[in-house]
Amino acid sequence: MKSFWSVILVVATFLSFQSNALADNASHKQLVTKATAALKDTAKNKAVNKSQWYPSFHFASQAGWMNDPNGLIFFNGEYHLFYQHNPYSAKHENMHWGHAASPDMVNWRYLPVALAPSEDYDKNGVFSGSAIVHDGILSLLYTGNVENKVNDKVEKHQTQNLAISKDGINFGKSANNPVIKMAPHYSSYVFSRADFRDPFVWMQDEHYYALIGTQYEKTKDGAVLLFKSKDLRNWVFINITAIGSKGEMGYMWECPNFTHLGGEDVLMISPQGIKPNGKQFLNKYQAGWFVGKLDYNSGRFKQSSPFGLFDYGFDFYAPQVMKTPDGRSVIIGWLDMWDTKMPEQSHGWAGMMSLPREMKIVNGRVVTLPVAELKALRTDVECLRNIAFKGTKSFNNVKGEVYEMELQADLAKASKFELKLRASQHQETLLVYDKTAGVLKLNRDKSGQGLTGEREVKLPLVNNKLKLHIFVDKSSIEVFAQDGKAVMSSRIYPDKTSQAVHFVSDNDMVLDYLNFYKLKSIHN
Ligand code: FRU
Repeated sequence: MKSFWSVILVVATFLSFQSNALADNASHKQLVTKATAALKDTAKNKAVNKSQWYPSFHFASQAGWMNDPNGLIFFNGEYHLFYQHNPYSAKHENMHWGHAASPDMVNWRYLPVALAPSEDYDKNGVFSGSAIVHDGILSLLYTGNVENKVNDKVEKHQTQNLAISKDGINFGKSANNPVIKMAPHYSSYVFSRADFRDPFVWMQDEHYYALIGTQYEKTKDGAVLLFKSKDLRNWVFINITAIGSKGEMGYMWECPNFTHLGGEDVLMISPQGIKPNGKQFLNKYQAGWFVGKLDYNSGRFKQSSPFGLFDYGFDFYAPQVMKTPDGRSVIIGWLDMWDTKMPEQSHGWAGMMSLPREMKIVNGRVVTLPVAELKALRTDVECLRNIAFKGTKSFNNVKGEVYEMELQADLAKASKFELKLRASQHQETLLVYDKTAGVLKLNRDKSGQGLTGEREVKLPLVNNKLKLHIFVDKSSIEVFAQDGKAVMSSRIYPDKTSQAVHFVSDNDMVLDYLNFYKLKSIHN
């Protein structure tokens, strides 16, 4: 009997060793050290620090390029944010995973670069993915991007891979990589090998589940596929969780995400290729959600809401969700859009994150609001009450480059209310509520360098009242309207001196309240 148990013990030890086995990570270690050192280049950092557009209270990389948030997770008493990152230049190439940690999702400290492209299966980029804690070990599931030139054509192949860390800082790649080699050929369905990426992993009933974004090749519809695993190494395909139809929802669904919230399941996707429809879907790509129910047995998601956008402005993409220790579902998105001008590139950096936003379900739809932790940034406050006016109004202490503002406008008599931010003689970022059309518009035609255009969203008043919660940073604006029912965000590149705020109304109106907060910087 004794020898039976010792055999079991040996086998169990062998299996657990197997499951945590790492590949030879020598070259990965070297590349991570090199990338981390490159970020300490003082000349480069000086240029970034001097950049008039470098955010004061939003997360951005020390230098170089940044896009999607990756691997958002609470681990060992801290929030971890990884991100798509090129430490060597402000261009999207040579993708690594950058890494930062925070006690509160607001103040971040940089950690060494977590992942570098070092192996045959990720040689052309360590692409997006997510994090989970398995046996106390921080585990990252990410896409390895490979591009080979074959007869003058680039052939892409994407696989899913695992990297693990005991200390949450130094990551080794698994000996089992790639853990998911290709999109399955499933009955008559053939999914793209080239576009098969961005695994989002979570745990349910002692099993790991991962959603992966792809394209159904025959009809060129975006889709998300569900996989299941006991150990993060061996995965079985469960089903097509959701798929577009007739190309109406785009040709590729990037960055799928999933959360359970308020008794509902929420499936999130970042679809590429939804065609503009009037004034809707004008951005290159979209980021949004479906409320519904995931059937874990069949792997199918039954949607109970139409597709909703997280943000109706210009710049918000590839958001990732995480659960906070107190059970909130919080998203952070990339506050940029692919293929737009990024004037900060000439300052040696590119890309910033949105503020962390808490998701809530209200009447079967997702709303998002800035997390409560952001209140800790507030310093001085200017509180104004019951201000009646017509025409243009400004207030002495209501101006700046960096601030938060909450207001409620009573538009019983007015039909058009304008808010001009980061304004000067020549510049303004314009927020307009048009009561006749029932729409809120964000216009950056005169916002400064680079970017122009207008976005709008249908948004009813409540008893003739419009509630706005606005965050302005050095090169961004985020507007949460009617308690997060519509959010509009944009990068803007005004002159440093464009700091005025003007309120304009075409008829008598009342500002029921206006709270204007100066905000601390998160950099010491
Ligand atoms: C989304 C995305 C992902 C990909 C990553 C590459 O913005 O295109 O699909 O993994 O960026 O940086």
